[in-house]
Amino acid sequence: MEEMKKGLEGVVALDTRISYIDGIQGILKYRGINIEELADLSYDIVSYLLINGKIPDYEETNDYSRMLKENRQINGKLIEVLKNFEFGIEALDSLRTAISCIAHFDEQNNHHTPDANKNKSIRLVAKFPTIVAALHRSSFGKEPIQPRETLSHGANFLYMLTGRVPTELEAEAMEKDLILSAEHELNPSTFSLRIAASTLSDMYSAVICGLCTLKGPLHGGARKGVMDMLDEISNPGITKDYVLQKLERKEKIMGFGHRVYKTYDPRARIYKDVARRLAIENGDTYWFDLAEEIEHIMYHEFIEIRGKPIYPNVDFYSAVVYKYLDIPAELATSIFAMGRVSGWIAHCMEQYSDNRVIRPRAHFV
Ligand code: SDX
Repeated sequence: MEEMKKGLEGVVALDTRISYIDGIQGILKYRGINIEELADLSYDIVSYLLINGKIPDYEETNDYSRMLKENRQINGKLIEVLKNFEFGIEALDSLRTAISCIAHFDEQNNHHTPDANKNKSIRLVAKFPTIVAALHRSSFGKEPIQPRETLSHGANFLYMLTGRVPTELEAEAMEKDLILSAEHELNPSTFSLRIAASTLSDMYSAVICGLCTLKGPLHGGARKGVMDMLDEISNPGITKDYVLQKLERKEKIMGFGHRVYKTYDPRARIYKDVARRLAIENGDTYWFDLAEEIEHIMYHEFIEIRGKPIYPNVDFYSAVVYKYLDIPAELATSIFAMGRVSGWIAHCMEQYSDNRVIRPRAHFV
């Protein structure tokens, strides 16, 4: 039997055509296209690319966008369910239950034909933003806001969350966030989803596996951890002590480090630029400056002093973007999932298309 690798570090579990990561050079490609190029497209086009394996032409883009818009609405019965949640439930827990609900309302839930899976993928991508906005508003007794067809995927989410049509830069920031969050090879949530898909469980169940795994603070939950950290540092004068004392206590600084990237996460670079532009548009660089100071302290501490490649990851500057978009920390992981759902669907379909049950061994000790 093979030697055991804790956390499956460095283990190649399968072949994929969906994404490519070079952790040394800091390269990320979806379907062979660099993330820097994809970040300037729309989430509709990038989610289509991930799920269908190609950039859609003009006709395909219009059809796909139309189908997504036609499926943004959520069932009135689901809104009733959301209204009955006890206050204080974590947003991601509500989202997990809501996805179970839309599965119950989908007559094709347990149909495994390519057509049924295509329909389910449209419903999942289209409804995630509506559900996240509705569960947040119902958590403090507010009625959901109906989706607006004239707005892009990202802009419509911000509108349903706040009731205000976002500025052009805010809308661009949201689209970029969804694109940068969409896919990342065999990260923990995607791998858990592939295991479920490998037993031929249905797509909704596989996505719920992904959601439950993403929730963990060492994975998708880190974005909320970064936002909480920015709030905890009550004034910039204590930043250095705050970070060093956490490290003293052997606590992880959220938003830094990565199992694969041993250099700057290419997504973090793009988020940092968006955060800087939002700060300037807001006329208030406080959050951006605070984050940049934390980055400098971590660089000095890890790269210069300890010689350890700990850089910002996808969750660090995305948290600053969320601050400027007035997104509550409580929603951070759910919004990460809103983007990641298209990558999850792509992996679910890829697993179905060339399947073998995923079943590793264990050394009995
Ligand atoms: C995501 O895999 C993906 O692709 C995930 C993701 C995606 O798109 O799906 O990129 C999204 O999950 C990004 C990561 C978000 N998580 C965090 O920001 C939480 C903080 N980061 C760490 O928990 C950690 O860096 C991990 C979990 C991300 C990676 O951990 P590894 O590869 O298991 O590394 P490790 O924990 O073994 O750390 C190696 C060393 C340790 O020190 P020693 O025990 O060797 O002395 O580096 C230290 C760690 O203590 N270290 C950190 C640190 N990250 C690593 N120390 C302080 N702060 C950190 N953030």
